[in-house]
Amino acid sequence: MSELRYDGQVVVVTGAGGGLGKAYALFFASRGASVVVNDLGGSFKGEGQGTKAADLVVDEIKKAGGKAVANYDSVEHGDRIIQTAIDAFGRIDVLLNNAGILRDISFKNMKDDDWDLIMKVHVQGAYKCARAAWPHFRKQKYGRVINTASAAGLFGSFGQCNYSAAKLAQVGFTETLAKEGQKYNILCNVIAPIAASRMTATVMPPDVLENLKPDWVVPLVAVLVHKSNVETGRIYEVGGGHVAKLRWQRAKGALLKADDSMTPGAILAKWNDVVDFSQPEYPNGVADMVAKLEEAGKLPSNEPGEKIEFK
Ligand code: NAI
Repeated sequence: MSELRYDGQVVVVTGAGGGLGKAYALFFASRGASVVVNDLGGSFKGEGQGTKAADLVVDEIKKAGGKAVANYDSVEHGDRIIQTAIDAFGRIDVLLNNAGILRDISFKNMKDDDWDLIMKVHVQGAYKCARAAWPHFRKQKYGRVINTASAAGLFGSFGQCNYSAAKLAQVGFTETLAKEGQKYNILCNVIAPIAASRMTATVMPPDVLENLKPDWVVPLVAVLVHKSNVETGRIYEVGGGHVAKLRWQRAKGALLKADDSMTPGAILAKWNDVVDFSQPEYPNGVADMVAKLEEAGKLPSNEPGEKIEFK
């Protein structure tokens, strides 16, 4: 079997000075891509900055015979990071939105600064990088984006409500980019990884971390951003050798009369149906729910030959 290659492609990796980002950068460079190694070089709490983290990774890539340039901007200035790719290599094919920080604190004690910084780095950062890459992707009718969510975002995590909110935002962001990008062969997916890094060093014991090498997240990302991939708008969890797709699930649900009889009591009377997951559905968009309402004759579009178009 021949290996997946990325020759002639340009991969931008944000937060590539350490952890997962570094593992991505080394991998894609070793498989023929030119890599922009972005890293602000601060602490895992988002304090300080420096050039060393990115420089060391660029040196390592170059020593191994690969092509890479460093960029030291915060992802909040994603346009500058993408410009580095254009200036150095003339194009961008793959964007890995990976940079991240933590500001763990209970909700009771959370300050606006803790909330705002997490939103800036994760939400605004992913937006600014993707926004700057988008016109290039559209023009060349090719682009691949990976955004980085987290189990904390999907399921919640004590002391991380800022991080959880920012991480679930990556899911909605990805799902919409996937819909808007598909026609231009821009495919976007989101991962919830788990890996040993300075970020997890404080929250997991060493023997667990030994089994969670960042290198074991890389192969899934490699598959998803390869030109042969067709998956888009999907969520994956990956780490320690486990790789699985996740999706939304809808219970059977209750269809009540939409008139004055629709009271809280009417819902309670049908509660078993509301929460009945014995025959789940896997919705993909608002159209799925609208179709259900149409089927039940609850929307005017149910007239013969008539169809409501939802954007
Ligand atoms: P890490 O702390 O080792 O790496 C993150 C890198 O991003 C650092 O090198 C840091 O300097 C850089 N960075 C931080 N803020 C930046 C900014 N504003 N602009 C540019 N670079 C910046 O952490 P790790 O574990 O490699 O995390 C990578 C991504 O994966 C993050 O988005 C994180 O939230 C996510 N993640 C990691 C998990 C894990 O188990 N390691 C679990 C779930 C999500």
